[in-house]
Amino acid sequence: MLITLEGIDGTGKSTLAAALATALSDLNPVFTREPGATWVGDSVRRAIAERADPVTEALLFVADHAAHLAAVVRPALAEGRLVISDRYTDSRYAYQQVTLDGIIEHPLAWLHDLHNGWTVVPDKTFLFVVPIDEALNRLRQKNGREHFEERKVLEKVQENYLELARADPSRFVIVDAMKEREEICSFVAAAIRQDVKPGNKRRRKK
Ligand code: TMP
Repeated sequence: MLITLEGIDGTGKSTLAAALATALSDLNPVFTREPGATWVGDSVRRAIAERADPVTEALLFVADHAAHLAAVVRPALAEGRLVISDRYTDSRYAYQQVTLDGIIEHPLAWLHDLHNGWTVVPDKTFLFVVPIDEALNRLRQKNGREHFEERKVLEKVQENYLELARADPSRFVIVDAMKEREEICSFVAAAIRQDVKPGNKRRRKK
């Protein structure tokens, strides 16, 4: 079972991932993230920091996804483990659709084509949503902002996420990230438990 956590920067999803590790410890999940912990992930972080050209950056994110699937996701799923990823392919669909706007004619179609045929589609995706002002407030408290973390970018990214959720309502669960942290954690943990019940097999294969 593959679960992904998505949302703009500042939604608190990484903090939630840490809380879920405790709440779901009996299920022994594999917690992972994109950009990942490999040298490919390091190149992605360098591309972000150096403001590489958007196509280079997008392709590095996709390369990181391939490495992540090969090293972590596929082996864990093959063992029947529950995998929870903090960011995954929808991050590309939401963010790179913005960064590639005006550079590539149909960014979302291009990004879909890049993934189709080899990626693994998540069983469930929790999309954390907050008002942009709140996300910016939370980000202000953090040092070293990335170029994605600007109002206009975040607005468009969140719109893209909501559009992705509208197009695939059986996979997406929208979570109001303004709620109390404990409430969010118990809601998400309960929803994941419901999905991993015996008999609920992976619905999607690619
Ligand atoms: P992080 O803050 O979750 O570590 O992610 C780093 C930044 O990279 C964040 O602003 C979101 C962005 N990102 C993309 O633009 N595309 C992607 O495919 C991924 C995984 C992250």
